[in-house]
Amino acid sequence: MSLPSLQARLVLAGLLCAPAAAQLGPAPEPPENPLTESKRLLGKALFWDEQLSSDNAVACGTCHIPAAGGSDPRLDMGSRHPGIDGVYGTPDDRFASEGVHRASSAGEVLPDAISGFAPQVTGRRSPSMIGAGHFAELFWDGRAGTTFINPETGAVSIASGGALESQSVGPILSFVEMADEGRTWDDVRSKLERVVPLALATNVPADVAGAIQTHYDYPGLFADAFGDPAITAERIGFALASYQRTLNPDQTPWDLYIAGQTSALTSQERQGLNAFMSNGLRCAICHAPPLFSDGSYRNLGLRDIAEDDGRRSVTGLFSDRGKFKVPSLRNAGLRTRFFHNGDPTFSSLFLSIFFYNQGGGFFLDNKDPLMNGVFMAPSTASNITAFIQNGLTDPRVAQELPPFDRPTLASERRPAAAAVGAAVTGSGGIDPELSIESPAYPGAEEFRVVMHSGLGGAPAAVGMALSLPGGAPGGTPTVRTPMAFLGQRGLAPGGAGGGHGTWHRPIPLDPALSGTKLYFRGLVRDPGAVNGVARTRWAEVEIH
Ligand code: HEC
Ligand code: HEC
Repeated sequence: MSLPSLQARLVLAGLLCAPAAAQLGPAPEPPENPLTESKRLLGKALFWDEQLSSDNAVACGTCHIPAAGGSDPRLDMGSRHPGIDGVYGTPDDRFASEGVHRASSAGEVLPDAISGFAPQVTGRRSPSMIGAGHFAELFWDGRAGTTFINPETGAVSIASGGALESQSVGPILSFVEMADEGRTWDDVRSKLERVVPLALATNVPADVAGAIQTHYDYPGLFADAFGDPAITAERIGFALASYQRTLNPDQTPWDLYIAGQTSALTSQERQGLNAFMSNGLRCAICHAPPLFSDGSYRNLGLRDIAEDDGRRSVTGLFSDRGKFKVPSLRNAGLRTRFFHNGDPTFSSLFLSIFFYNQGGGFFLDNKDPLMNGVFMAPSTASNITAFIQNGLTDPRVAQELPPFDRPTLASERRPAAAAVGAAVTGSGGIDPELSIESPAYPGAEEFRVVMHSGLGGAPAAVGMALSLPGGAPGGTPTVRTPMAFLGQRGLAPGGAGGGHGTWHRPIPLDPALSGTKLYFRGLVRDPGAVNGVARTRWAEVEIH
């Protein structure tokens, strides 16, 4: 057990003497967008509404979950991005976030060069929206700047302090995160005018549920927040930013500790704090309290600059190559993946801290000089881990208590479509396949069934049945049951296995449909198949 250095004790003593200066205040609000309760409530509804995406599958919150430290809890599952080499399982892979399928402006799902017919994956790991209001610039490279430009008019909307507004309007038109290609603000507006707010969510927090009950629909919520029912990109940005400004993680044990409650940190956590503040380790220079970030951009030598240029892509400055924004360490203990690329090498908080031992990463080009000569015993890394894990976790965030409470998303409840039965192979020895990611719920205006890997250009249809023909799941259907057809069309050209098509079918707004199972099967006219018709396996989809 090592004693805290004199330096650390001085720094700590300084903090203890001037707690007011060291405490995390509320996130600053720009005068153009003062915080109001009605804007916060509208922002909270928008943030958790999967209908804000083109295909109803992705909300802001899908990639930003409080209990996961504001990042994405799906990071260990499908959300691997192969990196610039396009090959999975190599060192440049990233753990990032699954967004929408690549789709045309007509909602026709298209093969993506990287993800094929699976949802696209962002190039970076999602940083936290909690506490984001304290940063002057947002995103790992800071490209969401302080000036907010009205996306529909091009006029300056907020002169400075508008990074959250600038950031919030990005994902809604991003073809990877939430949008079909070519989506416009008119599309977003007309959709929000039609839909029932949070129609897909359950366990809606009482504050938002009350607002929806009173104001009924989005135009009503916009009227309450802004005085008239007009839905504009600027107002969407204002509301989302207002909500996120109220997500202030200022009740960690460290906050209690510097306010004078010495027992808020255990002795191991205090040792971790002292090491963290020490001159030798320098953590607090970049991760400066009370935010535990100084908002600067640094290169830790984590990865080859050729993979991601970071800050340089925004400033164009050679000296900024490979630099990323210093993240706040508040609630980092709730995350499962770390750094801008969710680096597969550092799968725990301890490992991401021990990474600093002997000066950070192996990539020396433009590496920060502060990394030089850092040495850390494993026991010190354990103490710092304990400090960050507990001392910097706001229990309200971990338990998703107000203001960090939230609805349950449809994507968290519904089982993925299950494939049952056997396929009938088509030309080239390839089985056609169905991919159904868009949620089936009563009132879904945009339910998509995607067929791919069929014979390019061939006539095809999707059949729908209410029970699995032939009975037992997994069994090959033997009995023909009545099927409704979603219509015949030609698959896109592309040779054997290269054809694909998307079928759209609205689901009636009939609550009695909840819990019903639907079975879909794709049929492709294909001379290379037995009896001239290739068939996908059945996809079992439950209406939620
Ligand atoms: C598909 C996943 C996904 C969705 C959906 C999504 N985000 Fe993000 N978010 C990310 C990723 C990835 C980044 C980092 C991108 C980068 O730095 O290049 C990010 C960055 C952010 C940041 C910046 C935090 C910081 O410290 O720099 C905020 C705030 C944020 N998102 C809020 C939102 C809001 C509001 C929405 C909805 C309008 C949203 N996100 C939708 C994945 C997502
Ligand atoms: C030179 C500035 C600098 C110093 C010194 C520094 N960090 Fe960091 N830290 C960063 C940056 C920048 C990132 C993000 C890097 C990236 O993703 O490429 C980061 C990321 C982290 C993360 C991952 C957080 C997350 O959510 O992804 C942890 C944990 C962390 N630092 C802890 C520490 C500790 C502990 C120390 C002291 C041993 C320390 N840092 C010293 C700049 C610094």
